[in-house]
Amino acid sequence: MPLINVSYASIQSDEKKAELIAELTRAYGRVMGAKESSVWVILNEVPRTDWGVGGQTLDGLDAAADTHRKDARIEVRQARKEDLRTLAAIEAECFPAAEAASESDLRARFEIFGEHFWVLEADGEIVAFIDGLVTDSPVVFDDLYQNPASHTRHGAYQTVFGINTRPVYRGRGYASALIEQLIDQAREQGRSGVILTCKKELIGFYEKQGFELDGVSESTHGGEIWHDMTLHLN
Ligand SMILES: CC(C)(COP(=O)(O)OP(=O)(O)OC[C@H]1O[C@@H](n2cnc3c(N)ncnc32)[C@H](O)[C@@H]1OP(=O)(O)O)[C@@H](O)C(=O)NCCC(=O)NCCS
Repeated sequence: MPLINVSYASIQSDEKKAELIAELTRAYGRVMGAKESSVWVILNEVPRTDWGVGGQTLDGLDAAADTHRKDARIEVRQARKEDLRTLAAIEAECFPAAEAASESDLRARFEIFGEHFWVLEADGEIVAFIDGLVTDSPVVFDDLYQNPASHTRHGAYQTVFGINTRPVYRGRGYASALIEQLIDQAREQGRSGVILTCKKELIGFYEKQGFELDGVSESTHGGEIWHDMTLHLN
């Protein structure tokens, strides 16, 4: 009788735990050719005070990260041409190869809609960025990614093509600050809304920023299932 034992350092809802158990069971059954009814799963929610990494508790590491976060000098600014190499490196760190935009993709986008590229610097180093063209389409579709020239300067919707925070800088509100910046710009420019597609696990993140879920997208980008979301501005 196979037993999958998972430990994680957070408290999750009963709904999320049930989903995780179902998914792990399905994955084991599929990969191992086993009967799902024979699979056991045990979830252990470990307090962060009881989990050590390199001799420090996660609780202690959180406190150290909080101190650094408070001390970091943060600046959100428009991207410059000379930032593009760094942005491509961040993109490669944040997305699987099938989905990541290359430096030349980013360069082609920047030439056309550089005005809608924003970076966030922490202590003078770029650690996160956001970009997206403007369109009259109320949903993002795959051709838009292939064809930056479809940018419609006076269009109704600002898109979010990409938003990335380097892994070690996550959870500090950096992506949220960049989305707010893009939303402010869209509002100032009189757009009807901001649109994006995202994977299921990020729906909640974007809802916190005020986006509404429209449903499953027609996009097949990177062979994944995407969801359409809109933030309405008027
Ligand atoms: C998604 C991403 C940009 C968030 O960056 P970030 O700077 O950590 O975001 P913020 O700190 O502003 O917000 C973090 C919040 O989002 C949630 N979040 C971030 N990534 C998440 C994920 N993959 N699944 C679920 N929630 C997530 C965090 O739990 C946190 O919630 P809280 O505010 O309740 O604590 C970052 O994880 C990333 O670069 N991911 C890889 C690229 C990607 O998937 N981009 C989105 C394309 S649609």
